[in-house]
Amino acid sequence: MTTVRDALDSALVALIASGVDSPRLDAELLLADALGVDRAALYVEGDLRVEGPAARRFQGLVRRRAVAREPVAYLLGRQGFRRLELGVDARVLVPRPESELLVEAAVTALARGARVADVGTGSGAIALALADERPDLRVTGSDLSGEALAVARANGERLGLAVEWVVADGPPPGRFDAVVANLPYIASGERLAPEIARHEPALALYSGPDGLDAIRALVARSAGAVAWIALEHGSEHGAAVRALLRGAGWPRVRTERDLAGSERVTIAC
Ligand SMILES: C[S@@+](CC[C@H](N)C(=O)[O-])C[C@H]1O[C@@H](n2cnc3c(N)ncnc32)[C@H](O)[C@@H]1O
Repeated sequence: MTTVRDALDSALVALIASGVDSPRLDAELLLADALGVDRAALYVEGDLRVEGPAARRFQGLVRRRAVAREPVAYLLGRQGFRRLELGVDARVLVPRPESELLVEAAVTALARGARVADVGTGSGAIALALADERPDLRVTGSDLSGEALAVARANGERLGLAVEWVVADGPPPGRFDAVVANLPYIASGERLAPEIARHEPALALYSGPDGLDAIRALVARSAGAVAWIALEHGSEHGAAVRALLRGAGWPRVRTERDLAGSERVTIAC
């Protein structure tokens, strides 16, 4: 029988030795999951013990995190995004906080009843957050990966949110007023943390020598077809994406920065 503190301490040793970024947070999330309690309960429920199947599950999760460097979100099978908890696994990118900027921009800017396509929807994070926060919008989520779309569809059904799901390369067929997209934007050959490089789908990450192939193709196909577009991109891509959008005919183009101060989302109308 082990106390919560002892279990966390031994997990910390393994996680620190393996070089993970947030060892204490990860250990707490995994232990809370193994025990079936909230993270706060680890500190307020003094009689919690780590034993039997919960202890074995915790050891297994810590091993997968420390040795295989599996992302915590895949180990838990869920990730928070805006007001939603999404199911995630290795078929989809783990939704990132930066992508909440795209949702914020669309929620603020789009007219009542607008038809909006989330291109490269992955887990459905952006499409589902839009449907949740702006039920008046008509939202379509599309992805080149049928496997990703199965995750998005399951999330939509579980959350009871109305989104149309379409497998498509680039924008889905049909007429839209707006496009939002967090497409892959890593340059091929760029070195990534093991959590990302080993476990997240390559189709969700890499996009040609400068990371802009997917964005370039989407801008070319959206020009003249939609009045408003918001694109997430790499911190070094701001100037290139603004030039692409201006060159394709959008008169008003601006870039928003993420919480780290990096250029992250460019919006054109
Ligand atoms: C960076 S992930 C983003 C997933 C999700 N939008 C999010 O923010 O969590 C990019 C997604 O785009 C999809 N994708 C890649 N190339 C695509 C293309 N040409 N057309 C449509 N989707 C594409 C990938 O399968 C992946 O799900």
